[in-house]
Amino acid sequence: MTCRPIPYGSRNSLFILSYYPRVTLPQQNPGLPLPSADALELSARLQALISREIQAAGGWISFARYMELALYAPGLGYYSAGSRKLGATGDFITAPELSTLFGRALARQFAELLAQNLTDVVELGAGSGALAAVLLGEFGALGCLPQRYLILEVSADLRERQQAHLARTVPQFLDRVQWLDRLPERLDAVVIGNEVLDALPVHRVRTHQGVVEEIGVAARDGGFAWAGRPAPAALKDAVSAHELPDDYETEINLAAPALIAELAQRLDRGVLLFIDYGFPAREFFHPQRNRGTLMCHYRHHAHADPFLWPGLQDITAHVDFSAIAQAGAALDLLGYASQAQFLINCGITELLAAVPATDAARYAPLAAQAQQLLSPAEMGELFKVIALGRGITSPLRGFCRGDRSHTL
Ligand SMILES: C[S@@+](CC[C@H](N)C(=O)[O-])C[C@H]1O[C@@H](n2cnc3c(N)ncnc32)[C@H](O)[C@@H]1O
Repeated sequence: MTCRPIPYGSRNSLFILSYYPRVTLPQQNPGLPLPSADALELSARLQALISREIQAAGGWISFARYMELALYAPGLGYYSAGSRKLGATGDFITAPELSTLFGRALARQFAELLAQNLTDVVELGAGSGALAAVLLGEFGALGCLPQRYLILEVSADLRERQQAHLARTVPQFLDRVQWLDRLPERLDAVVIGNEVLDALPVHRVRTHQGVVEEIGVAARDGGFAWAGRPAPAALKDAVSAHELPDDYETEINLAAPALIAELAQRLDRGVLLFIDYGFPAREFFHPQRNRGTLMCHYRHHAHADPFLWPGLQDITAHVDFSAIAQAGAALDLLGYASQAQFLINCGITELLAAVPATDAARYAPLAAQAQQLLSPAEMGELFKVIALGRGITSPLRGFCRGDRSHTL
């Protein structure tokens, strides 16, 4: 997701480390636009729900549980409640929200895969439905419509928005679209997830004098505070795979590899294609990235306090793509590239060139969008594309140049 960070100090300066058993209060409202009274009331209800859970759990929950509730608590969590999250009037903008060029370029990769007798497309976490609409429209234009376009979306609110958006934009293809409550038992499909892995709950950990502690959440003074505890074995094991210096704080995402492993286990034939911001492990756990990658987005402002207005802001962490590749080790690693390289390989520049530059009203906004998708200073380099597959024999065009699989 892209947004304009606000210049009130580096995110590292906002975190004062807590270590077992001390707790540290987060900074309150770091200069953001104020939510409405209704929104604050919703947030207060979610805060009360989380506080009750902390109390019932003996005074502490993991940050992953906090993030899960803050984002997905039914009716109250950020993705579950009714506010507009994505796009120019929301909190952040994603590639499919930014430009149809993204989905149209992606469709060219799908077209090659669907031609190999793959019957279904499965989209995880479809947001507003923007990508599904563009993909379906482009599949129709390219003559490669899948039998079914399946959407697995955890948010009931977003699911309704997706249904309305697709009914409005691609009514002719609606009969191919189905919403799922869980993953199909077996998959013969191209599975796509754009910015889904970064929205899965992460654990926070810290190395301290030879001990790995998990930094979780306690209730304090009507709000929340960081509180450390000795980490459980799963987190210690994850940390010990990397040589982290002392006093190093980072995120461990157990949910993303678990999702990939489950998809890999269910995939009879096909491809898993995930696009997100992140790095290979050696960059993710670089000694200088010693305060991790956790980030919050509120009305296009980025800041680092996940305890501010629970339910009203997005919380996200970058993706460790080495962990994703490892979780899908039962599959073939078909490619790993920057978003810019992938979209260029798929023909995004040809799509842009098909619009005459003399038609400034159409060309100028598309050129600006392409710049945002491709520029290394914007989404082009930070965002990566990974493809894992089974039974796919021909190389994927998205990785024909600039494949970086060897870095994972
Ligand atoms: C950051 S938004 C991205 C939305 C959309 N893919 C886009 O690029 O605009 C994350 C999406 O993933 C969904 N999500 C989170 N966890 C999920 C899961 N386990 N399975 C399916 N969807 C999930 C959220 O509800 C939301 O729709």
